[in-house]
Amino acid sequence: MVEELEITDPQERFQNFLKTEEYRQRLSQMAMGGRTSLTVNFEDILGFDQQLAEELLDKPDEYLKHANNAAYAQLQIEDPEYAEKAETVDVRIVKLLEPAPLRKLGSGQIGKLVMVEGIVVRSSPVRPMVMRAAFKCKRCATITPVNQTGLFLRAPFVCSDPNCRSKGPYEFVQEDSIFIDSQDLRIQERPEDLPPGQLPRTLGIKIVGKEIVDIARPGDHISAVGPVRAMPPTLPGVGKLRTFNLHLDANSIEVLGKEPETAMPSPEEEEQILDLAKDPWVHRKIIGSIAPSIYGYDHVKEAIMYILFGGVPKTLPDIAIRGEMNVLLIGDPGTAKSQLLQYVARIAPRGLYTSGRGTTAAGLTAAVIREKGGGMSLEAGALVLADKGIACIDEMDKMRPEDRVAIHEAMEQHTVSVAKGGIVATLNARTAILAAANPTLGRYEAHRTVAENISLPVTILSRFDLIFVLRDVPNKESDSKMSAHILELHRKGSSPIEPPISVDLLRKYISYAKSVRPVLTQDALKRLNDFYLAMRAASETEGSPVAITARQLESLVRTAEARARAALRKEVLAEDAEAAVAIMKRSLEEVGIDLSSYKIDIDIIMTGKSKSMRDRLQTILGTMLELEKDTGMAEKAALEAELEEKYQISRSETNRLLSQLLREGTIYEPREGYLKKT
Ligand SMILES: Nc1ncnc2c1ncn2[C@@H]1O[C@H](COP(=O)(O)OP(=O)(O)OP(=O)(O)O)[C@@H](O)[C@H]1O
Ligand SMILES: [Mg+2]
Ligand SMILES: [Zn+2]
Repeated sequence: MVEELEITDPQERFQNFLKTEEYRQRLSQMAMGGRTSLTVNFEDILGFDQQLAEELLDKPDEYLKHANNAAYAQLQIEDPEYAEKAETVDVRIVKLLEPAPLRKLGSGQIGKLVMVEGIVVRSSPVRPMVMRAAFKCKRCATITPVNQTGLFLRAPFVCSDPNCRSKGPYEFVQEDSIFIDSQDLRIQERPEDLPPGQLPRTLGIKIVGKEIVDIARPGDHISAVGPVRAMPPTLPGVGKLRTFNLHLDANSIEVLGKEPETAMPSPEEEEQILDLAKDPWVHRKIIGSIAPSIYGYDHVKEAIMYILFGGVPKTLPDIAIRGEMNVLLIGDPGTAKSQLLQYVARIAPRGLYTSGRGTTAAGLTAAVIREKGGGMSLEAGALVLADKGIACIDEMDKMRPEDRVAIHEAMEQHTVSVAKGGIVATLNARTAILAAANPTLGRYEAHRTVAENISLPVTILSRFDLIFVLRDVPNKESDSKMSAHILELHRKGSSPIEPPISVDLLRKYISYAKSVRPVLTQDALKRLNDFYLAMRAASETEGSPVAITARQLESLVRTAEARARAALRKEVLAEDAEAAVAIMKRSLEEVGIDLSSYKIDIDIIMTGKSKSMRDRLQTILGTMLELEKDTGMAEKAALEAELEEKYQISRSETNRLLSQLLREGTIYEPREGYLKKT
């Protein structure tokens, strides 16, 4: 019988496996890195000895010990010198056949070896954990070592000195104890795995061992292999609860690629994708497939297409330039902003929707939180979780200003920093932002500038590549078309317009496109350059507003690259540059117009003030200082009269500008009806 000939000792079977060429080589290389871990591919064990692999999954605690012993025994053969130094080898199993979905993890998996994948939402600092504690008897000074396994530090039962044998008291001796690095992580289901409308599941991961701590940071997508454990939570003074909490004791941790992964397209799908890219109307088709139930807004949908595909980030030796785009929609109530944002969050790889109402800075960026046990942990917020994806922030204007500040760094540097409670960390947040906001006064007032229309600081406003205003103005023709569209939608229960590309294919198409890195052609470069120089030249005459800055030039490049990407082209063509110029112009015309000179004035977005407004503010301040000379204060009524008479600035305009100066703190009101410069 064959079975009788089989080796049954698990350690020997592991060792036979490790005698394969590849693993012998890995063992002999351990000394080089001074490593004590040996990474083993699960599939390799499976290919070598299926039964052994299955037993490892079923009884990991027992079989991992066998594996470690086998690896050490084999190391003694391969490299006896290093084996003596290393003392032990930890076998780290990676790449099980299938990850276990966090959602499905339950009592069936307790004690079994599983692989889980998720995004790290929280991590504790690396802390030393005592493995072997030395206790000194206070009576006889004998040191008794105790191996530690449980959650709590355990002292010896009796003193190990046979002459003493007292039951304490003891003193913990740190120098004679053995410590090992440990860390706790919490992972969460990836946004793309989350069923719509469900709260994401999380799982705690305990990491012990210097070679696997500190590999993963919040925001990282990881794969962890290890046995599932169940532990009863303890209530102080009450005891242990009957419902247990699950966690994973990590045997291995791998940080997965930072690119959002979606299933690879099948060969047929790849063919569909490539066919679509060849279509000369591919851009129109994509735009037509974005939220087809929402009527109109083609330019907004075009911008959404650009944000979905994104430009190419550039990392130069000295600086890094973001490739992700930021788009802001300012709009009247009920103009489908929330609907668009939610749609984008659903379709974008690693898309995320959050509403500014009730969103805190910590929830958006990162927070240091105090754990129940007393330690501190770092928790990732939305922008970190959406790293390399799109964060859709609705109702941005409703965020508290102190929370909004946190977005600055993310939008500028694409990182998020925290320094609190002993934790100092910088996390990646290479996130494109699609934000929506309502006008301050309820409705967008066309005769006011953007900065006046929206209660967002200009420092944030200027970080958006494109800004659009969605206005709800009654118009007979478009109203009847829109009403027909919406009513038809309700009657049919589906979109009246059939999207040319299905949601599923579009998602795959976007992921596929991310690997294309288009480069500007000479033609495209010339178009962008011409536009930039023409706009700059218009500002050259003395006293003209500045129409465009280098920042818009970068936005143009991103937009053109995104458009090339949307056609899976490696080259940015002149047509891409032209489309980028067209949409940039449209955005500038909507928000960058100086309302008194009807010229585009970028300072409206960059500083919140147009050139003509700055001139008038200058006049007002000058006049005020004149009036202040006599009494130390300027009487408001006199100021208004003087400005109207001398400079033809209307009283209402004066009042509007004065309230702006008051808000900024440039002037103040020392006494009712009087003003003074600060
Ligand atoms: N152009 C449109 N096409 C189809 N439906 C529309 C359109 N505009 C608005 N609607 C419908 O109007 C409703 C309100 O839209 P939504 O809640 O997205 O508005 P909003 O812009 O977010 O408003 P608010 O500023 O008040 O948050 C939605 O049901 C949406 O489908
Ligand atoms: Mg809304
Ligand atoms: Zn003693």
